[in-house]
Amino acid sequence: MTLPFSDAASRNRDPIARALGRILAPAASVLEIGSGTGQHAIHFSGQVPGLTWQCTDLAENLPGLQARIEREGQGRLPDALALDVMSDHWPQGPFDAVFTANTLHIMAWDHTPILLARSAELLRPGGCLVIYGPFHDAGVHTAPSNQAFDRSLRARDPAMGVRDAVEIRVLAKDRGLEAEADLSLPANNRILVFRKPAAAPT
Ligand SMILES: C[S@@+](CC[C@H](N)C(=O)[O-])C[C@H]1O[C@@H](n2cnc3c(N)ncnc32)[C@H](O)[C@@H]1O
Repeated sequence: MTLPFSDAASRNRDPIARALGRILAPAASVLEIGSGTGQHAIHFSGQVPGLTWQCTDLAENLPGLQARIEREGQGRLPDALALDVMSDHWPQGPFDAVFTANTLHIMAWDHTPILLARSAELLRPGGCLVIYGPFHDAGVHTAPSNQAFDRSLRARDPAMGVRDAVEIRVLAKDRGLEAEADLSLPANNRILVFRKPAAAPT
């Protein structure tokens, strides 16, 4: 099988890895939503071998993802799991972190509140949700390239589109996740970090 490959993932993996290095503990357990080609998982788990990185994606993308894990994972990664954000069958937590890259603008907007709610349930107290991708703020694009990308997505499928960081923060707060960071990455992408509050001391 020819492994699926993403040019974007090979370009953005190092800046994302540098950010994750500051966000994640070296032995964190991470659930990735929409792992795609698996390039990110292989790269990040190679850089920080203590991570337990659980890849997931839609069932139809699992064969390519699993093939990469077997060929390049050096036994570090568990088998990929099928996960559709809208399904009732999510992997069992808790996880220290949930990570997802370039997925919110591909999924329909009604998937985002579900992703946030499920992540909040699956995270350990003190754990974090890390979302990488392009975002606008209160409807205002931060770069012409993101505006053009948004247009091209909507032309491809009206359910797709660059999402709004302000709206995501509101939805996350309603689901018990506190906005912790909004990091600028190359090519007008960002990382949004949300934290599940640590359990109150008894
Ligand atoms: C643009 S790709 C990003 C892949 C990878 N995260 C990356 O950054 O290279 C979007 C991914 O979201 C996944 N996806 C789309 N809808 C989904 C859903 N409802 N549940 C889970 N994953 C979904 C796709 O299968 C695809 O792998």
